[in-house]
Amino acid sequence: MGGDITLRPIRLAIFASGGGSNAEKIIQYFAIHASIKISLVVSNKSDAGVLKIAEEHLIKSLIINKNSFWGSNEVIDYLRDEKIDYIILAGFLWLVPKQIVEAFPNKILNIHPSLLPKYGGKGMYGHFVHDAVKVNNETVSGMTIHLVNEKFDDGDIIFQAKCSLNEEMSASEIAFRVLELEHKYYPIVIEKYVLKHNVA
Ligand code: GRF
Repeated sequence: MGGDITLRPIRLAIFASGGGSNAEKIIQYFAIHASIKISLVVSNKSDAGVLKIAEEHLIKSLIINKNSFWGSNEVIDYLRDEKIDYIILAGFLWLVPKQIVEAFPNKILNIHPSLLPKYGGKGMYGHFVHDAVKVNNETVSGMTIHLVNEKFDDGDIIFQAKCSLNEEMSASEIAFRVLELEHKYYPIVIEKYVLKHNVA
């Protein structure tokens, strides 16, 4: 007979506010993974591109509003019902409330399109980051994957990747180079982190 241990996959929820190119790469990467499953996509925008991607991949989605996210336990309860183990922020623009950070200790990851701590914090997202990098004539930029705490772009850094810049590059070219790094590394860094931290 022996012990009948049923191992369930580690369940991830992706939170995204926009187009969701990172979300798509992550979904593709884990589509046939042995032990990690993208189980839910959460967005604060009902017309976010990421919701269409979720639908195409038959992944459940949830649209949140300020009240369900900030003013109640609705989202936490939903995540618990869905047995979500980790939250992956991929272009999610709202600050994660304290109660969710506490409910998922060291289990929320974010990606940021700069070499934090440079060019992070409130208001530093999308083209604002790359415009600032350009204005300051930086010779290097890159991306950061970090744990999420109650402040914007502030948790422990898990991984960074850099790219060299030259003065001819526009802010959009910098954005493109950085996004390439994000797509290349986010799925594998998530996989490595989750598998390492899920070992009993
Ligand atoms: C990425 O640059 C990510 O670093 C930032 O938001 C952007 C999301 O892009 N947090 P996308 O929606 O994944 O294309």
